[in-house]
Formats: sequence, C-alpha cells, structure tokens
Amino acid sequence: MKVANVPSPGGLDKLSVSDQPAPGEPGPGEIRVRVHASSLNFHDYSVVSGVIPTEDGRIPMSDGAGVVEAVGEGVTEFAVGDNVVSTFFPPWLEGEPQQGNFSAVPGDGMDGYAREQVVRPTNWFTHAPQGYSHAEAATLTTAGLTAWRALTVDNHIKAGDTILVLGTGGVSIFALQFARLMGVNVIATSSSNEKLERLKQMGAQHTINYKDDPKWGKTVKKLTNGRGVDQVIEVGGPGTLAQSIDAIRIGGIISLIGVLTGTAGDVPTAKFMTKQAKLQGLLVGSRRHQIDMVRAIESSNLKPVIDRSFGLEEIADAFRHEEAGKHFGKICLEY
Ligand SMILES: NC(=O)c1ccc[n+]([C@@H]2O[C@H](COP(=O)([O-])OP(=O)(O)OC[C@H]3O[C@@H](n4cnc5c(N)ncnc54)[C@H](OP(=O)(O)O)[C@@H]3O)[C@@H](O)[C@H]2O)c1
Repeated sequence: MKVANVPSPGGLDKLSVSDQPAPGEPGPGEIRVRVHASSLNFHDYSVVSGVIPTEDGRIPMSDGAGVVEAVGEGVTEFAVGDNVVSTFFPPWLEGEPQQGNFSAVPGDGMDGYAREQVVRPTNWFTHAPQGYSHAEAATLTTAGLTAWRALTVDNHIKAGDTILVLGTGGVSIFALQFARLMGVNVIATSSSNEKLERLKQMGAQHTINYKDDPKWGKTVKKLTNGRGVDQVIEVGGPGTLAQSIDAIRIGGIISLIGVLTGTAGDVPTAKFMTKQAKLQGLLVGSRRHQIDMVRAIESSNLKPVIDRSFGLEEIADAFRHEEAGKHFGKICLEY
C-alpha cells in the first residue's frame, strides 16, 4: 500500500510517498479500513512543515475516510462495505473534554491516515454520512466537528442569533453552513472580495474585507445596530482577538479555535471584562459529538465545500496550495 511519511525535522520538500507492507487481518474489536481520502488542516500543515516537531517517519493527516474491508471478532457496529470517517481524539468517546494535547491524535502524536489501509479499534471511527463521497466525509473529522462543537455544544446557538466567522478556511465555512442550517445569521470576513461574493452566495448576510477594514470589530457592531454578535468563531488568535472583543455582544461567547496570526499576544483585558463575554478555548470534539454531527448532516442537504483535491503522491503540492491561502473551504487528498 502507498504511505506518506514525514521525516524529523519535517519540511514540505522532505515528504515522501512509498510502497509499504499492508496491515494484516483485524483482531477482536478492530476493523480494517481502505482509506480513500483525507483533508488538510492548518494543524496537519504545522506537522508536515516541521513547525510541530514529530517522530521521524510519522504518517501525517488527522482526517481519514474510507470503507470497511474486514471486521474482527465481536465487531457489531460496522460491517464490511460501510463508509466510515475517523475521529480526532480516539480516546475521547464522550463527556467532558479529556485531552489537552495532541499525543493521542492521529497524524501528530501517532500515525495518521496518509496511507491506503489501516487496522484500528472500531471506536476510532464513526459511520460517514449517507450519500457523502470519501473526500466529503474526510472534511468532518477536524474542521467540521470543531465548527459543530463550537456552535452546538459549547454554545446553544438558536435561530435568530448572529455569529461572526473569520476568513474562508475549513472551520469558518463549516461554521457558516451549520449556522445557516439552523436559521442563524452570519457576518463573514475575508481578505478577498471574490471570496466575499461566494460567502454572500452561501447565505452570509453581511461581509467585510478585513484587509480594507482593519477595525472590522466596530463595523460588525454597526451592522448589528450596536448590539454585537452572539458568537465569534475566532480562528485568528492574537492578531484578531481585539477586534473580536469589539464585535461580541455583552454576554456573548468568543470560541477561541485558531492561531492563524500567532500563538501569544496582548488582550484588551478591561474591555473584555466590560463585555462580560465568555472566552472558550476548544479542541475539536468527542466521538459522541461526531455521531451527533453526522446525524444532523443526514437530516439536511449540507455538503462540505471542497476547493480542490490532490492525489496522495501530490501531498506536498496540496500543502503548498494551502500555504498560498487561495483556497475557499477544504483541500482534500484522494487515493
Ligand atoms: N481548536 C481546534 O479544534 C481547531 C480545529 C481546526 C482548526 N483549528 C485552527 O483554526 C485555524 C483555521 O484552521 P483551518 O483549517 O480552517 O485553516 P485554513 O483552511 O488553512 O484557513 C485559512 C484561512 O484563514 C483566513 N485567515 C488567515 N489569516 C487571517 C486573519 N488574520 N484574519 C481572518 N482570517 C484569516 C484566510 O481566509 P481568507 O483567504 O478568506 O482571508 C485563510 O484562507 C488554524 O489556526 C487551525 O489550527 C483549530
């Protein structure tokens, strides 16, 4: 089977793809999956580019989707031929968050899904939504679930609320889609006017070019008649947080998800206090959250926005495409 590996230290030019022995038969409680697709996340980029140090030869990619090709003794949840999608934190099945690091995350602390076959315990996967391609299913593990959790688990978003999404990456586009599905208004930002048009077509009520309007937090307040938004899907981190604090309503929630502008910085603490808002850090979600998300998707016609797909051998080019920031939504690998 074909497998991609990251050396230590990592680097896009050093990624390799080679033929390696296929895994054997699944043991009791395990399934063998023919992995057909993965999707790129900023976290995977950090691993393959060497920003996050990893073990020499690590198989990258946290997201994996494919079809069950063999089941071990005692497996009842899946049958041969079922389409499945991997979970981000295999040990976190349900309940309160348990993982504060990436040691148990496929594609970082352990081998991931940039490979054609894998044998894993059943609870490392859930069913994929009916009618989804493998590439579509692969977008759910990280980006889809993070957006879903932010809106429905950490917040109890409801029709008529307004959220703010930043940029047009995987998490933000999923947040827009889930919000529109639930009758929630969306204000969206991007550095590209062309992408702002696409956001409008997807149902964003208002859009702002954050490069042309660096004080976009105040603009968001104006657009909401001075009230502010109920929730910000904060993927920027230190470089955007001050504006998000301007944009949030009194008592709203800022979901701190991303670090696109860096990992530490100043926070306008007093202003944040007067907003009486909540700042909630979050890391993806549990297997239970993923099952709930798949159920919600199946009761709708929501389909992920896939910008472009690459083959497994083109994995470095796929990450160069992400690095260039021209994408809208998800970039996938299909094999
Ligand atoms: N906590 C979690 O569980 C979790 C899960 C998934 C992702 N994340 C994090 O969330 C962030 C986004 O991840 P992703 O996979 O969605 O990334 P991505 O698909 O690579 O998205 C990048 C997009 O973000 C936008 N962007 C970049 N700088 C920005 C800025 N200063 N202000 C506003 N938008 C900006 C750009 O959109 P435009 O081109 O439209 O300007 C860019 O295309 C990353 O930091 C990632 O690590 C966290």
